[in-house]
Amino acid sequence: MPPKPMREFRKIYGDDGDIREYFAPGRVNLIGEHIDYNGGHVFPCALTVGTYLVARKRTDTIVNFYSANYKRGGVIARDLNSLSYDKSKAWTNYPFGVLWAIIQKGFPIKTGFDIYVYGNIPGSGLSSSASIEVAMGTMLQDMEKLPLCKQDIALISQKAENEYNGCNCGIMDQFASAMASKKHALFLDCATLQYEDVPLELKGVKIILANSNKPHSLVSSHYNDRRRECEEALKLLQQKLPIKNLCELTPEEFEENKYLIQDEILLKRAKHAVYEEYRTKEAVKALKENNIERFATLINESGDSLRYDYDATCFEIDTLVDEARSLPYVLGSRETGGGWGGNTISIVREDCVDQFIEHVSKAYKAKASLCADFSVLEVGFGGRRIL
Ligand code: GLA
Repeated sequence: MPPKPMREFRKIYGDDGDIREYFAPGRVNLIGEHIDYNGGHVFPCALTVGTYLVARKRTDTIVNFYSANYKRGGVIARDLNSLSYDKSKAWTNYPFGVLWAIIQKGFPIKTGFDIYVYGNIPGSGLSSSASIEVAMGTMLQDMEKLPLCKQDIALISQKAENEYNGCNCGIMDQFASAMASKKHALFLDCATLQYEDVPLELKGVKIILANSNKPHSLVSSHYNDRRRECEEALKLLQQKLPIKNLCELTPEEFEENKYLIQDEILLKRAKHAVYEEYRTKEAVKALKENNIERFATLINESGDSLRYDYDATCFEIDTLVDEARSLPYVLGSRETGGGWGGNTISIVREDCVDQFIEHVSKAYKAKASLCADFSVLEVGFGGRRIL
């Protein structure tokens, strides 16, 4: 039985005072991978799973954190007088980083909180860190009555992740966790933050998430390296082209000018970004026309590009994808999220979901010696107060 956050809070901290509960979802990115930080378009949707956060104000400067997921850590205390990153305080750096970012933005927070969190996002790659950040930002906005909109909460959460936790991520995860709408995916232009809610109705198919149970950490992974490589490739193209971001180029413009990038690796990274931008726009078009075959083909192409040009997959993910694609009732499959582990998405004929899970889980166990967990995508919506 999953914990009932409000009840658990009271057990740990007592039941007096104004206690409130918030929720922010994880996200799955359908297409548009590793281009949020290249000024491109992404297409994520919120999940129904995410992070629950219960909080009550204190009168001193202590911020107490308790996680139902890391019970053995007990209550971890932080202090508003000591805002710097503290490795020994583990996961609390994500929500505490949001507090830091809000103070940095010029909103003084003078007194602390008692906080309980519980997350139910399976595995990695589905933005559990963004969901805890957005839940924290949503709580602070509400309890401190801060003049911040949901988009501000997304940007503050990204600042916390970038500058406090040292992961140079783009805006996609925090934006989706704060802003995504029910039954829609969010078509977001990361260069301007303009977005469109696109109905996510897939007739006759289901999107299946497969958690590889191969953990990934963006801080320690090659994520920051990829960002740097893209920046280097951009600089080389800027010798001739007046562009701010790789994703401003069409594939044709890229092909004409790619001679400017002599380094083979940088060329592959830039190629991924330019073509992924094209694929993402095409995929949204296909979805609007209810052309699932085309949508799924683009999902496959995105996955291949992540594997061969961006070098952002791993053996476990490749196995899940190859097994999925070997089945005649699977239209498309690829890695989703930050990369080097985490989850895949597969577009599977609705009447074959059970067969799909049975086949892929057996084959994966045999080849990767790990058990994958499967779930059918249920679309949720952005962060909010729930109690
Ligand atoms: C992680 C980052 C995002 C994005 C994806 C890859 O989830 O947090 O900003 O770059 O990887 O698409």
